[in-house]
Amino acid sequence: MTKIINIINYKKDIDKIKYIPKEFSKGKTIVFPTETVYGLGANGLDCKSVEKIFIAKNRPIDNPLILHIYSINQLKNLAYISDNNIDNIKKFIPGPITFVFKKKKIVPDIISAGRDTVAIRFPAHPIANYLVKNSKLPIAAPSANISGRPSPTKSNHVIDDLYHKVDYIITCGDLKYGIESTVLDLSEDKPVILRPGPIPPEIIKNVFKNLIVPEFVYGKIDPDVAIAPGMKYRHYSTKVPLILIENRNDTLQSELVKKEYKIMNNSIILCKKEHSKYYNDYNYLILSEENNFYEYGFKLYDYLRDLEKKYDKIIVEGIKDEGIGIAIMNRLRKAAYNII
Ligand code: TXA
Ligand code: MG
Repeated sequence: MTKIINIINYKKDIDKIKYIPKEFSKGKTIVFPTETVYGLGANGLDCKSVEKIFIAKNRPIDNPLILHIYSINQLKNLAYISDNNIDNIKKFIPGPITFVFKKKKIVPDIISAGRDTVAIRFPAHPIANYLVKNSKLPIAAPSANISGRPSPTKSNHVIDDLYHKVDYIITCGDLKYGIESTVLDLSEDKPVILRPGPIPPEIIKNVFKNLIVPEFVYGKIDPDVAIAPGMKYRHYSTKVPLILIENRNDTLQSELVKKEYKIMNNSIILCKKEHSKYYNDYNYLILSEENNFYEYGFKLYDYLRDLEKKYDKIIVEGIKDEGIGIAIMNRLRKAAYNII
């Protein structure tokens, strides 16, 4: 049995989740909102609880999990971190970024998938923050989707994927980003981005001057599994083929979109606002009315999950690999059945 708790106004409704932090220590699994995507949480120090996450999601056991915490003291208990890096990460927390450190013994092997590192995030969303703070436990939480599917950004997505597979689902209004956190590896001498996210490399470089952005971050080539374990799997897949038309000059990109559209009857185009004029006779949706990449990211997974129910093929116009556009293109390239 899954209990669904809907929080409309965080301050007024907080009583509805007052008892939830204690449920973590009883081994329960709890879906909760974060500022990126919904997470499926459990007590990160208890192997039996963490196993339940892997089972509910059908997640490969060699893909490590993020621990969600709220204080630097907690972090020092779990991982090795230099004073310099404490100062540096303070500029980003709480927020949509995850750091990888060398782990301490207290972190169970199931969290780190047998590695000597652990991924840590300080969520900013008030509900995530409340749960993490009041449970006084590091909360293991991957995105709350069935493995391989687009991450959930709306309550109906989590209910579709995990109803009857978890103990609680806490839902609320819109999340802020809709794209999973940036993952930054601080476990070696030089900081390395493992997964692009809402905080783009340009911003991280202001603090971590010698930042490395490997080629695989763009999603065009497969990463070395030893470095980025989660990136080898097919991700974010829709149930119908997604065709990605890479960013190009206006007319060429739209010609390629139209050619692809005509191959199958029941297709839909996700396009940039300025290109909609080319698609008057076609089914299309504009991803951002404001031409804002944050809005594009925020809507993406919801559109994908909705459109796969109505169409046989989804054709997506690629955008520039810039800012949060890097994260969006990384996800689209991984989701794509074909890239043109
Ligand atoms: O925004 C987010 O990060 C969301 C919310 C719920 O916090 N969580 C999330 O978790 O996206 P998940 O499990 O779907 O993605 C975590 C990523 C995976 O690619 C995983 O391989 C990587 O982080 N990761 C976890 N631990 C790692 C480690 N020790 N070393 C390298 N990568 C790690
Ligand atoms: Mg995930």
